[in-house]
Amino acid sequence: MALRDILVVPDPILKRVSEPVDGVDDDLRALMDDMLETMYAAPGIGLAAVQVGVPKRVIVMDLAKPDEEAQPRYYVNPEITWASEELAPYEEGCLSVPEIYEEVDRPAKVKLRYLDYHGKAVEEEAEGLFAVCIQHEMDHLQGVLFIDHLSRLKREQAVKKVKKQKAA
Ligand code: NI
Repeated sequence: MALRDILVVPDPILKRVSEPVDGVDDDLRALMDDMLETMYAAPGIGLAAVQVGVPKRVIVMDLAKPDEEAQPRYYVNPEITWASEELAPYEEGCLSVPEIYEEVDRPAKVKLRYLDYHGKAVEEEAEGLFAVCIQHEMDHLQGVLFIDHLSRLKREQAVKKVKKQKAA
């Protein structure tokens, strides 16, 4: 396993639409292992492959609380098959937009399907933090960041702040 560099705004790669993968093989599992290690080191609770510069439809996540055992989750070619009309607000952050936290409204519940670490097809329902995180990460696969859900002014301020951090 190896740590990868996490891209931050305004890196243009983050705007790319990620490609579906053909299937889950050892190479893809090696990428997912690296992503998970990189996410834990950051630390973060979710990471899309495009954030380490690989525009493939792959996400890793771990929503365990600090005092719980690790619960790594892997999502390959995820698709949302249903989303509730009811929305829920959550203050989101992103490893590609460091130190910026803003409230975003998203469907409170979603159903999704994806391939897991072993290539098995899974269908699942998500709510709460899981629903927030999977929708946030799936946005990355479309080249969308959580700040794209904010007003243009707030978005521009966020990018400016990140640029300043980088320069410091
Ligand atoms: Ni993110």
